[in-house]
Amino acid sequence: MSESALPVPKTTILVVDDERNIRRTLRMVLEGAGFEVAEAESAEGALASLDDLEIDLVILDIRLPKMSGIEALEKIRARPESRRLPVLMVSGHASVAEAVQAVQLGATDFFEKPLDRERVLVSVRNALKTWQLEREVERLRGQVQHRYEMIGESPVMRRLFAQVEKVAPTNGRVLVTGESGTGKELVARALHRLSQRNKEPFVKVNCAAIPAELIESELFGYERGAFTGAAGRKKGVFELAHGGTLFLDEIGDMSASAQAKVLRALQSGEITRVGSERSIAVDVRIVAATNRDLEADVAEGRFREDLFFRLNVVPLRTPALRERASDIPALAVSFLREFCRENGLREKPIDDDVLEALAERTWPGNVRELRNVVERMAILSGERIGLDDLPSVGRLSRARAAEDLSAAASERPSSAPLPLPPDTPDGDDRLSLRDYREYAEKQYILATLDEVAWNISRAAGLLGVERTNLHKKLRAYGIRRDDEV
Ligand SMILES: Nc1ncnc2c1ncn2[C@@H]1O[C@H](COP(=O)(O)OP(=O)(O)OP(=O)(O)O)[C@@H](O)[C@H]1O
Ligand SMILES: [Mg+2]
Repeated sequence: MSESALPVPKTTILVVDDERNIRRTLRMVLEGAGFEVAEAESAEGALASLDDLEIDLVILDIRLPKMSGIEALEKIRARPESRRLPVLMVSGHASVAEAVQAVQLGATDFFEKPLDRERVLVSVRNALKTWQLEREVERLRGQVQHRYEMIGESPVMRRLFAQVEKVAPTNGRVLVTGESGTGKELVARALHRLSQRNKEPFVKVNCAAIPAELIESELFGYERGAFTGAAGRKKGVFELAHGGTLFLDEIGDMSASAQAKVLRALQSGEITRVGSERSIAVDVRIVAATNRDLEADVAEGRFREDLFFRLNVVPLRTPALRERASDIPALAVSFLREFCRENGLREKPIDDDVLEALAERTWPGNVRELRNVVERMAILSGERIGLDDLPSVGRLSRARAAEDLSAAASERPSSAPLPLPPDTPDGDDRLSLRDYREYAEKQYILATLDEVAWNISRAAGLLGVERTNLHKKLRAYGIRRDDEV
């Protein structure tokens, strides 16, 4: 920013001096440069003004009747909200000792009477510019943090945040339960971030994703030659998380033998690599999560009771989105902003009635589903997001079903086979689930259009989407009448 762009409109400077003439001179100089000026005759008066007014900078005389300027500076720096406020100190007589003390106590700058107009303005402008930059840096830092934080003002979320704050700094084991997509992983990460372990690793294992025969080596590592194919030694996640947090996700899906091994590790605080005799002490804080009803699993013998009790020292539950509908508008706006920013788009406005409609839905897929819907609307909408862009509920449940291929298969009329993805070579070039979903969606739209001889209204009806939305989809997928199925 160039020098001439300052002063920022409505920058208020508090002038503190017991001499009326000095206050008047400073007021003239500062107002002449476009600043607003507030005055105080004493240090006490200055501290009161800081409480009452929005002050951007203070010019503080060192010699004041009762409380000295130096004491006032100390008080200003002691308050969190003014710790970094620019404070320029003024002294009647050049006293090096005072100047040094003032700077040590955090004065931003220091000058002597008689006041020199240019000197004052240069100092004020520099101080304001630095402060502005600091605030900008802080704002950006806040944004980055925001990405990992959870949005929620509703009573259920406030309660959850309070619990997280309380247990995070302890070593207590936490079991996070809640429906799919409610933010269990975010809670686990917040527990780590707010703990003293936050400089150490956070390691996540998805217990459901690891085949039963690999889980032991994944958890505890192995030694060279422990089994066929174990060419080297490898650390398991317990060791990798040493000093930090181990997040055992989908704990309810662990096999009985894995449960027994985890239990042993929790009981002893030690692990043994596969193929080793030696046990190794590990210091990990365990956070587990599941969307299953673990108590029911225990009652029915699917989950070990002793392990359940060891994991469930502090139970936390992430509420379903429908239990906190009041949070939906803020979540939607935040996802939209994030999405637009990530894709370098100008932020699209979203109509209030869209937010209301979103808040009325029940969201079986919870926050994840809301996020997907917002992302989709952001892509398919025009300049702004209006009711027309809202996918119908019927279509939502269909889209969800498509995520589960077997469910999708059962929903389709038996005569229409589930579309198969185009031939893909083995290995790395497999289609991602997302690409497959798009592929399947496109095929389904094409098949439906053929069924109704390309009558868009009827097709939209069958598909459970608005006509305008179907048009957008056709454009998005580049579907035209002469397309080959
Ligand atoms: N309170 C929240 N604020 C912002 N984003 C959230 C919030 N809760 C969840 N999300 C987002 O929703 C998505 C799902 O969250 P997460 O993966 O933590 O859920 P989960 O409960 O672990 O789901 P699953 O049981 O399917 O593993 C993520 O993209 C996450 O960032
Ligand atoms: Mg999860």
